Amino acid sequence: MDNSQITQVKARKIFDSRGKEAIEIDVIASHVLGRSSSPSGASTGRWEVRSYPNGGVKEAIRFVEDVVSPKIVGIELDVKQIDLVLHEIDKSTDFSRLGGNTAYAISLATAIAGANSRGVPLFSYLSESNQSEVPYPLGNVIGGGMHARGGKTDIQEFLVLPTKSETFVSAAEANMGVHRKVANLLEKKGVDVSGRGDEGAWVVPLETEQALEILSEACSRVSDETGVKLRIGLDMAASTIWDEQEKVYIYQRDKRKIHEDGQIDFVIELANKFHLGYIEDPVHEESFEAFSEITAKTSNTLICGDDLFTTNVERIKRGIAEKAGNAVIIKPNQIGTLTDATQTAKISKQANYISVVSHRSGESCGSEISHLAVALTAPIIKLGILGGERMAKINELIRIEEILGEEAKMAKIGI
Ligand code: PGA
Ligand code: ZN
Repeated sequence: MDNSQITQVKARKIFDSRGKEAIEIDVIASHVLGRSSSPSGASTGRWEVRSYPNGGVKEAIRFVEDVVSPKIVGIELDVKQIDLVLHEIDKSTDFSRLGGNTAYAISLATAIAGANSRGVPLFSYLSESNQSEVPYPLGNVIGGGMHARGGKTDIQEFLVLPTKSETFVSAAEANMGVHRKVANLLEKKGVDVSGRGDEGAWVVPLETEQALEILSEACSRVSDETGVKLRIGLDMAASTIWDEQEKVYIYQRDKRKIHEDGQIDFVIELANKFHLGYIEDPVHEESFEAFSEITAKTSNTLICGDDLFTTNVERIKRGIAEKAGNAVIIKPNQIGTLTDATQTAKISKQANYISVVSHRSGESCGSEISHLAVALTAPIIKLGILGGERMAKINELIRIEEILGEEAKMAKIGI
């Protein structure tokens, strides 16, 4: 690894895209700076590590200054080494002393400083192979759930996923076309568009199938216009509509309450009717069994675990053993360090799970996940379609595609 040693670590309070407090970390090695922050979720999984200690960002900053900084100043710019030290400092299983967001920001800032010290892009610094695969962008077009207010859909995210395109740029452009086309169709149908949610998706008072119909129509039109093959998808974030006491999924707008078996049937019915290419968290986060059943009963559809796996090595191992899902969300701050997130992605890949490196609803303005997706050879990156903090990541992938030049090839999604 690099010979540069960390000379200084700084922590400060900044804000994320929702205007919520976030931590920013500077890792300095001689004259090189690595600066990074961490996103935050709203529909977080039960098995994620804690984002911040009890005292929030303020306590995290104090902890970095008093405890972390003296331990890592003097160490080489080596992400794995730093991540080990972070685990030594905070031995809890849920990073409750340091906070996963703090740990991830330190881990990432170290990687950025390392890349800067060598004068190479972050993706090539982090990459363990010489593959030049570019991920497909998965973006949400209509959104409700925990990411929106007012009249909204029951399901958190109605998504578009390009599955065949020559370049990343054309895939991302097609997604933007779908976002625009949906707005036009909504207007024509006289649907009240209340605005956009946390991740830039349209917030509309539509029932599940109505939203899927409009999205389908927009996708097939944009597909015809651009030649980019598009599938539609859902993030059902089912834990957020699951009532643990009553053991039912509550669909307020659809005016339905559904038991676990009914939910499995409903998901399969939607997958068939709308030719869904991607379904995230179709059942609640403890339901490995129902996940397995849905995976077995669908084909040519990615069944992805977010709250189910929470980027946690042990949970993905269980998923693989039980054949629960065939895709996994990678959100590094769910687990706390780049090393842990990388391990989850590696194990998933060995088991032929599709990794989906993902943004969060409260994002930083950084673009590191774009580099991470390429470094991990994740076939998909989930990053929204509109909004400055989402566009930062899309535009960075356009630059990465340019850097890769002729080597660049679009990843294989397998559907
Ligand atoms: P988040 O949710 O609010 O936890 O970032 C996004 C998601 O469920 O994918
Ligand atoms: Zn999700």
